[in-house]
This record gives sequence, structure tokens and C-alpha cells, in this order.
Amino acid sequence: MSGRFSLEGRVAVVTGASRGLGRAIALGLAEAGADLVLASRTQAALEQVAAEIEALGRRALPVAADVSRAEDVQRLAEATRGAFGRADVLVNNAGISPVFKRAEQLELADWQRILDVNLTGVFLCCQAFGRIMLEQGRGAIINMSSLAGSAGFIRLSAYCASKGGVDALTRVLALEWAPSGIRVNALAPAFIETDLTAGVRAHPGLNQAIVQRTPLHRMGVPDEVVGAAVFLASDAASYVTGQTLFIDGGWRAS
Ligand SMILES: NC(=O)c1ccc[n+]([C@@H]2O[C@H](COP(=O)([O-])OP(=O)(O)OC[C@H]3O[C@@H](n4cnc5c(N)ncnc54)[C@H](OP(=O)(O)O)[C@@H]3O)[C@@H](O)[C@H]2O)c1
Repeated sequence: MSGRFSLEGRVAVVTGASRGLGRAIALGLAEAGADLVLASRTQAALEQVAAEIEALGRRALPVAADVSRAEDVQRLAEATRGAFGRADVLVNNAGISPVFKRAEQLELADWQRILDVNLTGVFLCCQAFGRIMLEQGRGAIINMSSLAGSAGFIRLSAYCASKGGVDALTRVLALEWAPSGIRVNALAPAFIETDLTAGVRAHPGLNQAIVQRTPLHRMGVPDEVVGAAVFLASDAASYVTGQTLFIDGGWRAS
């Protein structure tokens, strides 16, 4: 790919790259020209995605890491620096939504795990890779938020709180790092067909309610998030920072 959407010569780090949105985004960034660092907890799955990226003629480094563990994130940043000497794009995509319970029934441990992965994990990665980008004087960070960051969904209090936190963190980092040439934005999908939404999709009432509530009358597929990620990662978005871009089938328009 050439022109303003090109990522030729850039190094992109994607967390949660083993499957779902992260895998699709990693492949999309590679198609746009980037070399990739792929992180999640599952080395074998990362190696499969790495092979797909190498088949596109790009380099790919799979690194098993839990984003909620500061030492893993530090190791990930060091592995990136060791292999490529730089990090131009960071996509903080790793996220979980393991419980569907009203707040009064939610275990503290569940609340903490969701916040640890979805919010603290984003902070840790922004900090570790932000330091590299500050040295470079350039970089683009994309944090995976959600429609749930700005709309309430019952039985998802911890998930919604974590994504609201991601939106807030995105705005603050955009301000702190704008003078250093680092752009920080968020993507906010609504319901996309991945493992994360398998439970919702298997529930006929919930699935139907979501499809009916969505102006485009369907859930999205992972590939439909890729273009927005490439845009925010590329020079096409050189004057865009501190934003949350919704990919929601029109949900927020109605
Ligand atoms: N699907 C949707 O409708 C939707 C909508 C809005 C926002 N999102 C957000 O989009 C992101 C990706 O979601 P998805 O639908 O693609 O989910 P998914 O299919 O369940 O994939 C989640 C990814 O995160 C990784 N991961 C989970 N915990 C991790 C940890 N502690 N450290 C590192 N990696 C971890 C998983 O890999 P391992 O298991 O190998 O670690 C996997 O690659 C999440 O942040 C989610 O909240 C999704």
C-alpha cells in the first residue's frame, strides 16, 4: 500500500493479537506495510498469526505476555526494542468480559480482574511503549474501548467502567504526549462477532434485541474494525488525537 494510509517501514505492536479483533487488526496493519509484534497469553496461537503475517511478506514477532502484569509488559517492550529498535504503532486491544452479573452479585475478584486487564493493562502498555515513542518523538497509540465506555449495559458494570476508563485515559495521554508527536486515540466498536460476544449471540432474546437496536440490523465482523485502525495508525490521521471513533452500525445515531 502506498500513499497516506501506508504503514511501510513502521513497527506495530498489537495486544490480544491471537484471535478476534486483534488478529484482524494485526493482519490489516501488515497489509498496510507494517512489521508486527504480536502479544497475548497464548504463544501457539500467536505463532499461527505470525505465520499469516510472514506470508504477506512482513516480519512478525510473537511474544507471550499478560498485559495485566507489569513485568510481562516490560519484557514485551524490551523484546520489541531488541528485534526492531523502535515502536511506531501500539494497539491496546487485549480485553476480557468474563462475567454477566448485576453489580450486587459481582465478586470483587471479577471486578478487579476485568479492571486489571482492560484498564491497567492499557495503562501499562501505554507507559512502556510511550517511553519508547517519547524517545523517538513520534508514535500512534490506539486503545480499544467499546460502545460500553459511554453507554451503560446492565450486568456489565466492571466492563463498562473499564472502557469508560480507557476513554478517559486516552484523552489525558493525548494531551500529555501531543507536544512529543504521539497521537493517542480510541476505537469503540459495538457488537462484533468474536469469542467475546459468543454468549450474547447464543442467547436468542439478547441477540435479537441487539440486532433490532442496531440501525444496520446486524452485528459487525472483525474485518469491519480494521480500516479504522489502519486510519488511526497512519499519517492519514496526522491531525487526529484524543478521539474515540465509534464503529457501531449506527447505534449512537439513534
Ligand atoms: N467483540 C466485540 O463486540 C467488542 C466490542 C467492543 C469492544 N471490544 C473490545 O475489543 C477487544 C478485543 O475483543 P475481541 O472481541 O476480539 O475478544 P476475543 O476474541 O475474546 O479476544 C481477546 C484477545 O485478548 C487476549 N487477552 C485476553 N486477556 C489477555 C491478557 N491478560 N493479556 C494479554 N492478552 C489477553 C486474548 O488472547 P489470549 O487468550 O491468548 O491471551 C485474545 O487475543 C477487547 O478489548 C474488547 O473489549 C470488543
